[in-house]
Amino acid sequence: MLPKTLKPSFIVKYLDQYVVGQDDPKKILAVAVYSHFRKVARGRADNTPIAKSNVLLIGSSGTGKTLLCATLSNVLDVPFVTAEATSLAQTRYVNDEIEAVLQRLVDKADGNIAKAQNGIVFIDEIDKLKATDGEQRGSSGESVQHALLKIMEGAPVKLSDGRYVDTTNVLFVCGGAFVGLEQIISQTHNYGFISTSATFDQNKARILDRLNTRVKPTDLFTFGLIPEFTGRLPIIARFRDLDRAMLVRIMTQPKDSIYRQFCEIFRSEGVELEIEPKVFDQISELALEYHTGARSLRGIFEELIAPLLYVLPDERDIEKVVFTSLFEVPIITRRATDAA
Ligand SMILES: Nc1ncnc2c1ncn2[C@@H]1O[C@H](COP(=O)(O)OP(=O)(O)OP(=O)(O)O)[C@@H](O)[C@H]1O
Ligand SMILES: [Mg+2]
Repeated sequence: MLPKTLKPSFIVKYLDQYVVGQDDPKKILAVAVYSHFRKVARGRADNTPIAKSNVLLIGSSGTGKTLLCATLSNVLDVPFVTAEATSLAQTRYVNDEIEAVLQRLVDKADGNIAKAQNGIVFIDEIDKLKATDGEQRGSSGESVQHALLKIMEGAPVKLSDGRYVDTTNVLFVCGGAFVGLEQIISQTHNYGFISTSATFDQNKARILDRLNTRVKPTDLFTFGLIPEFTGRLPIIARFRDLDRAMLVRIMTQPKDSIYRQFCEIFRSEGVELEIEPKVFDQISELALEYHTGARSLRGIFEELIAPLLYVLPDERDIEKVVFTSLFEVPIITRRATDAA
């Protein structure tokens, strides 16, 4: 029996509490995880080998790739570890590094090898393994791709304690920003839209839009991943660039949003914090200019709030602080003190 936490709809609902938007990647990932564990459950029963569907997440920096995977790991009752492709590429002993990653997976499973063998490994910054033009074959990035290929395919890996982890049923999720992929895609896709009716057919346009933004394995090859590697990542989910409305939602909506966190900090000082909608718009506007997705939000937010956090412990009569604009001093309400 699969636990109910594995149902795709349940996973997506959980993810929605922490990750704003990115509905397609959420669904794709949820379905991939669900199918994976269905197959694992079935394979165990009748001993048929399992064809794996590892997932590739593509999206600009700061759009929620790592956050989505980390959140996913919280809801699933399976061991989950993250590895950075860049650190794999920096070492001369790739296989030792890979062994260390799998060792962590076993640790996450409390030493239970069988449980670890059904776990999930997230390999971030996979795009950094690209073989750049002019670099000769066998560059470090490429050799890491080869090393990863083996375990993604499924191979027994010996741990330092002599035990083996078989990666056949480990689900691999890879993520990367793939800067420059957009141009490659637009050069190779050209599904046109021929209007058969006078009215603009929105559905058709949407389907064509999907096809045109679909990443083909050949695009990844052009980008610099070796064909065998892209072949091991049959499922591709693309993250949207965040727009202003999404940035506003990111600051305010998630269970652990920045706004909520700061309200909590103020509350612990006995002060009510209010930030008017206009301020969130202004912060988003600034953040868009930085081109780091949602990453810059916290910094801007802290700059706004820090001066207040500085005075709060000294001025105990402050009751409420209202920010009305990023460029104006906040309105401060004070409690009537006995002395007054
Ligand atoms: N869709 C989102 N919903 C909620 N918060 C988000 C979202 N996207 C980004 N964030 C916020 O921005 C931070 C950075 O996001 P994250 O680490 O997931 O980026 P990434 O896509 O992995 O980027 P990179 O390619 O640079 O690694 C998160 O910790 C989170 O606070
Ligand atoms: Mg990341």
